[in-house]
Amino acid sequence: MAPLQKGQWNPQIGWNEGYAIGNAQLDEEHRKLVGLLVNLNDFLVADGFVPSGEDFATIVSYLVDYTKTHFTSEQSLMAKHAYPALQDHIKLHAVFVAAVDGLSAKVKAGQTVDLNSLYDFLFDWLIDHILHEDKKFARYLREKGVR
Ligand SMILES: [Fe+2]
Ligand SMILES: [Fe+2]
Repeated sequence: MAPLQKGQWNPQIGWNEGYAIGNAQLDEEHRKLVGLLVNLNDFLVADGFVPSGEDFATIVSYLVDYTKTHFTSEQSLMAKHAYPALQDHIKLHAVFVAAVDGLSAKVKAGQTVDLNSLYDFLFDWLIDHILHEDKKFARYLREKGVR
């Protein structure tokens, strides 16, 4: 992703129908998650790209909390439908949770966060994960005839 400049909106951040995996519940949750990234980006644009202060910490903690909520919900759906790759998928989620928890701890401690790597990481990871890993599960559900 191209480096962000001060005050620049990142047009790559936003929901795109191409991200839909074809499961209504998961698509809705993914849409929310991407929406939180948009909020984070809006906040940073409005604040002149100074990732600091309580509002920033609040947005980051929403993002962290909702990420965990979504992962738990997705994993329950996987367990309910006996998804064979559940354990591997849980591991992928855990790596991301550890990273966002680390980010959140940095923000709470008032440390500087590198925005470019933040976006690269959050957005690229999330979209890549949705398009590759979550899509496999959606395909599995379709093959089982679950809608
Ligand atoms: Fe997932
Ligand atoms: Fe997901």
